[in-house]
Amino acid sequence: MRVGYALLVISLAGLCGAAAIPAKQDEPKAVDMFRNITVMKEDKAKDIIPSMQFMCASLKVDCEFCHTGDRSSDEKKAKVTTREMIVMQREINAKNFNGRNQVTCATCHGGRVRPVNLPPVEGVEVRARRSPDVKPDAVLAAYGKAVGADPAHPIVAITYKGTSGAAKTPVETVYSGTKFVVTTKVGTGEMKQGFNGSSAWFTREKGIQHIPMQFAASFINQKQIFLGPDTLPKLTNLGGATAKVNGKDMLVVNGTLADASRASLYFDKETGLLSRVTMSYPTVLGNIAQINDYSDYKKVKGVMLPMTIANHSSEGNDLFHYRSVKIEEKIAPTAFDPPASK
Ligand code: HEC
Ligand code: HEC
Repeated sequence: MRVGYALLVISLAGLCGAAAIPAKQDEPKAVDMFRNITVMKEDKAKDIIPSMQFMCASLKVDCEFCHTGDRSSDEKKAKVTTREMIVMQREINAKNFNGRNQVTCATCHGGRVRPVNLPPVEGVEVRARRSPDVKPDAVLAAYGKAVGADPAHPIVAITYKGTSGAAKTPVETVYSGTKFVVTTKVGTGEMKQGFNGSSAWFTREKGIQHIPMQFAASFINQKQIFLGPDTLPKLTNLGGATAKVNGKDMLVVNGTLADASRASLYFDKETGLLSRVTMSYPTVLGNIAQINDYSDYKKVKGVMLPMTIANHSSEGNDLFHYRSVKIEEKIAPTAFDPPASK
């Protein structure tokens, strides 16, 4: 590779008719050897091609991403944008890092053309391509049919039993609308967490920890399941997109939640069922993502219910494998309250 750079520089220098390298003097500048250099004028000519290679590697693109055959042409928008990027990178480093190349194309781009501004979520690629062919209303209607839930007779509650995590910890989860209580067996005791509609809580060794409602959104959303279009998060500014999740084609409905955060609903193109919900929560510095995956749907009394639920966030992943699910005829109003402290 290194030999390759050197050859390229020499052949390009030749191409530009600037083979007459001044003797002794300082090494030639880029501006002396190339035809259309604006922001890298003062850099050494010999540094130009390796820098081009660096940009290719940082964005995982080839020369043609920014260039036509004539490298001096400014025809491609990416090349023009890149000039601004080079200036920005240099300003950031001059201002903050003593001019050292601490923040580079690679820092922000990390091998992609469009930088990601969400913290990483392990094992999950959050990418959907906008598509005008995906009509949100049609996708949601198809989902309603696929689930089979009857909006006139909403399900009162359901109880799941199964295991959680790689350790296969026994778990029981009861849902009713947005309310839930998850009971996990640990050793001889149990841990619980829940949301009763107005209070989010979890048990600790000593007593109950309540989560102030203004911080509870991610805790609550992480545990939600959905039983038809009416139970989905209410979105506005709907848009359509396509994506792949675990190799399967998805139709995606994007939108904005009441608190202005963004959410995307991924429906399996083949079955129409909900496969993934992603939500992003704004912070003053950027957004945090929460991703819930639903799979292994099973028909119970005519309604399709997911038996595997995976929750992913920057904080970690949870996996629930449910063995059984039961639709409840009724549920005690107190079922989702924190247990009375001992
Ligand atoms: C991400 C965009 C990008 C990629 C990828 C890229 N370049 Fe460039 N290239 C630029 C920009 C921007 C300039 C102009 C810099 C300036 O104005 O100071 C430039 C200038 C050049 C020039 C000088 C042309 C002239 O005569 O003015 C050459 C030669 C060149 N690139 C070769 C390459 C080669 C070879 C590759 C692949 C190894 C490559 N570039 C990849 C953005 C890119
Ligand atoms: C401080 C972070 C940061 C650095 C450093 C940075 N970029 Fe970017 N770059 C961005 C962001 C953010 C965007 C997307 C802006 C948007 O979508 O409006 C972007 C957009 C671009 C685009 C347009 C992509 C497209 O087609 O939509 C190109 C090309 C690009 N950067 C090249 C580079 C190159 C080459 C470097 C290194 C010289 C670089 N960037 C350095 C943050 C950075």
